Amino acid sequence: MTPLLELRGVDSRYTVRRGLRAPVTVHAVNGVDLTIRPGETVGLVGESGCGKSTLSRTILRLKQPTAGDILFDGRPLREIDEAAYRRQVQMVFQDPYASLPQHMKAGRIVAEPMLIHRTVSDKEAALRRAAELMRDVGLPAGTEEKFPGQLSGGQRQRVGIARALALDPSLIVADEAVSALDVSVQAQILNLLAELQRERRLALLFVSHDIDVVRFLCQRIAVMYLGRIVEVGPAAAVHDHPHHPYTRVLMDAVPTIARRGRPRIEVRGDPPDPLDPPTGCAFHPRCPFAQDICRTERPALTARPGGGMAACHFGPEELASMEARRDPGSAAGDTLGQVTR
Ligand SMILES: Nc1ncnc2c1ncn2[C@@H]1O[C@H](COP(=O)(O)OP(=O)(O)OP(=O)(O)O)[C@@H](O)[C@H]1O
Ligand SMILES: [Mg+2]
Repeated sequence: MTPLLELRGVDSRYTVRRGLRAPVTVHAVNGVDLTIRPGETVGLVGESGCGKSTLSRTILRLKQPTAGDILFDGRPLREIDEAAYRRQVQMVFQDPYASLPQHMKAGRIVAEPMLIHRTVSDKEAALRRAAELMRDVGLPAGTEEKFPGQLSGGQRQRVGIARALALDPSLIVADEAVSALDVSVQAQILNLLAELQRERRLALLFVSHDIDVVRFLCQRIAVMYLGRIVEVGPAAAVHDHPHHPYTRVLMDAVPTIARRGRPRIEVRGDPPDPLDPPTGCAFHPRCPFAQDICRTERPALTARPGGGMAACHFGPEELASMEARRDPGSAAGDTLGQVTR
């Protein structure tokens, strides 16, 4: 099956000026390979600044890739007309308040893309379709007539989702789409996205720093660290049996029953400076398992048991034996940290 979206070695950079010094380049996204199949939900996780939004913006064509290829339905992006691509690939924003025009009634907001892209015959048809879509996303009748300011945060996000659905896209990119919402409202919106994805065979790239939210919604998970994908695979495998030490750190940050009993690993230190990335494996300065090779050679993404891929020089047995070698009596995180320091 042709992937819906395929990224091959995609780089995305920014040039930043710091005061009077010469401009420097931030390699926000580095050699990313990623595929999304039709109807598939892929989660993209990683800590702040790792490049999730830059990758999303690159996919949405809001930012040009510096290198690499993006294919949509097997065709290179540069061969696809921008407007046609926009109909196929839509976005849902983090902040439904800031992203909706305040002076426009909700019905009109949802109708707008259909009018711009002329997918309906006239304004009445667009408003009728908007009302249907708003029912589909669980908004009460009459919401069409309200302004964003008169709606709750959850309702506003539903309007944002209805607007994203208005052109009947095949892919939605949702960057932190529930992060700004209360936890109970988050659950409702996640359920709605899951339902829409099932019913409409909609593919979703769901970007979040919350790994458990991603686990709930997604079939596959990609983990980013400093602009690169360091692990990718079936959601259950990545979440429950992570291979990359960084993925384990992300998982261990959230205690759950599944992880009870397994020693936690913790990292010390802050994320690296993207303007001065570490040599070798970018995670090595914070990795409790780091060896000499990690400081000099960048590991490639390679296949792992469980159906996924990870970019670590060590396999599960080697990591397990490194872990077993530490003093069994002491706290896992700290001891592991000290072993390599
Ligand atoms: N407009 C910009 N100009 C210069 N650098 C930028 C710009 N936007 C992002 N960056 C840098 O690119 C890197 C990746 O940022 P990005 O916003 O993609 O990360 P993120 O994973 O989405 O983070 P967050 O979880 O905080 O949203 C960071 O080092 C960031 O400082
Ligand atoms: Mg972001």
